[in-house]
Amino acid sequence: MNELTLDWLALDRLRTVFLGGTAGDHDYWRGESDLASYDATFAQRIGWKWDCVLYELERRGWTPPPGTALLDWGCGSGIAARALLDFFGKERATKASFWDRSALAMRFAADRARDKYAGLTVDTGLPARPELVLISHVLTELTVEQTEALVKWLEPAVAVLWVEPGTYDASRRLVAVRERLNGTFHVVAPCTHGAGCGMLAPGNEVHWCHHFAATPPAVFTDPFWGRFAQASGVDLRSLPLSFLVLDKRPAPALPTGTVRVIGRPRVYKAHASVLACDAAGVGEYELLKRRLPAMFRRFRKDDCPPLQIWTREGGRVIEAEELPDGT
Ligand SMILES: C[S@@+](CC[C@H](N)C(=O)[O-])C[C@H]1O[C@@H](n2cnc3c(N)ncnc32)[C@H](O)[C@@H]1O
Repeated sequence: MNELTLDWLALDRLRTVFLGGTAGDHDYWRGESDLASYDATFAQRIGWKWDCVLYELERRGWTPPPGTALLDWGCGSGIAARALLDFFGKERATKASFWDRSALAMRFAADRARDKYAGLTVDTGLPARPELVLISHVLTELTVEQTEALVKWLEPAVAVLWVEPGTYDASRRLVAVRERLNGTFHVVAPCTHGAGCGMLAPGNEVHWCHHFAATPPAVFTDPFWGRFAQASGVDLRSLPLSFLVLDKRPAPALPTGTVRVIGRPRVYKAHASVLACDAAGVGEYELLKRRLPAMFRRFRKDDCPPLQIWTREGGRVIEAEELPDGT
């Protein structure tokens, strides 16, 4: 699909629906061209968020449970399932199923998957028992009751990977899901621990658990994306996300001192202020340029590793390294 074949009117309508907070009210997919245009644009950005999450999972030593059936719940054009199958390989799943309140969306997502992964069994509908479940950018379209029913339905699953926009609201809702399912599952990510979520501690009301994915550099010089950004008002540089990964298997162990950085550090002339989370809670820490020049430089270049192994003295970070690959 190129910029001439995109259905700009459909994209405009979809964006209005998404931003207006009315997306949950009714099925907004009107035709194949809605889904194809969404898939080529908004869904690609969501795919980059999934790539970021999957890369982190690999770095942590997590892999999809072997021999499980994949379900993309609230699939839209089916980008989440394709991101996972591309990243870990189609042989990781015994089949891929697509579920959405829109029959049109289910059919579109299943057709795309059939075209892309020859030999993979693909179907639509809900399995009797969920195994590996992917959920992406759906939470803001669900009522409290629908969310509760979904969360209950997820309980027997083997693993759940859930990605949402990095907004305050979506992040706080995902934290509520984490708290609800922690114990039924092990919490794999974004957390470094299975204790209660530190965001819920008094004093942390202003914060939210969000992270940033990277846009592929080629996008910034591609006329297709330039035209899309201009027409849609979407800032291609910013890809905030919140996510949650749950698994019946214990989470791969992390080295002592591992923390998760929340959001972006605030970088000043001689120090940076970093919000970080571990089992002890969520707190603000100071990292001095003269003490840790290499990490400080990375922060300044907006290249902050989300998982770091720290040594701290009080509120100050005195040693910091990125979590090694495949920990
Ligand atoms: C913003 S789109 C996201 C689509 C896709 N998951 C992605 O990340 O690109 C939200 C999707 O959730 C679906 N949806 C909304 N409410 C739903 C419900 N109650 N049950 C199933 N699907 C729902 C919509 O039809 C739509 O396809």
